[in-house]
Amino acid sequence: MSRRPVNPARRFADSASVPFTNSLHSKSRSSPFLSIGLVLVGALLLIGYSYSGSGGFGGDSNVVSKAEGDLSCTSEVLRAIPILKKAYADSTRKVLHVGPDTCSVVSKLLKEEDTEAWGVEPYEIEDADGNCKSLIRKGIVRVADIKFPLPYRARSFNLVLVSDALDYLSPKYLNRTLPELARVSADGLVIFAGYPGKQRAKVAELSKFGRPAKLRSSSWWIRYFVQTGLEENESAIKKFEQAANKRAYQPSCQVFHLSSYH
Ligand SMILES: *[C@@H]1O[C@H](CO)[C@@H](O)[C@H](O)[C@H]1NC(C)=O
Ligand SMILES: *[C@@H]1O[C@H](CO)[C@@H](O)[C@H](O)[C@H]1NC(C)=O
Repeated sequence: MSRRPVNPARRFADSASVPFTNSLHSKSRSSPFLSIGLVLVGALLLIGYSYSGSGGFGGDSNVVSKAEGDLSCTSEVLRAIPILKKAYADSTRKVLHVGPDTCSVVSKLLKEEDTEAWGVEPYEIEDADGNCKSLIRKGIVRVADIKFPLPYRARSFNLVLVSDALDYLSPKYLNRTLPELARVSADGLVIFAGYPGKQRAKVAELSKFGRPAKLRSSSWWIRYFVQTGLEENESAIKKFEQAANKRAYQPSCQVFHLSSYH
């Protein structure tokens, strides 16, 4: 899937304004041809940007999505669903997944017994399949920038699962987004984050997520949770480990179990 952040226009406008500002301030009496030239360059950049953004250079985006599928923590969530069902039992009645390719997770969760599922896709989906389009049409999956408050009431879901999305947020936005994720959950928040070093290909390929992924160590995350006032749920950690051992399941992403706010 090719995707870009929900609102790339603003970012482009910021970076594009730089050459114009310079030309106005330092060369206020330069020839009109220079200004026209700059405008033309700007226009070409704009056209080029919109082409690459909308997947205009076709073929490549499929290659990227293959590699991404193999490396992403969203595909790890898919593998972890049976383990999560064991660890969280009754707390998997209403589940929200937040992250790229959320349609795949929501579809799989909806096949589970006694589980209702919703999804938030943080990036625009440009080549959604019929199934995904239908989930979006029904309002089960929403496309929303997670840097802004989530469109749900407090404790709307038993469990909130997040994959990949947080790796692309700077601490400034994490400070806003993480409490939001805890707010809409009632029985827990499970975070799937990439291991530094392990998901290196992802860093190079997925800069279109707005910024390259910043894969943080588990000690970084744990320090961050403490700072933000989020607690790890020891009982959930234990149950998840037990269920994982039984099935010889080894996650290829870091998995953190946090308690919801009370
Ligand atoms: C994020 O929040 C923590 C704890 O409230 C604070 O110490 C830190 O400075 C904040 N970071 C940013 C970048 O705002
Ligand atoms: C901790 O996890 C268990 C599931 O193992 C869940 O039932 C419980 O509600 C969680 N506690 C908190 C405070 O989130």
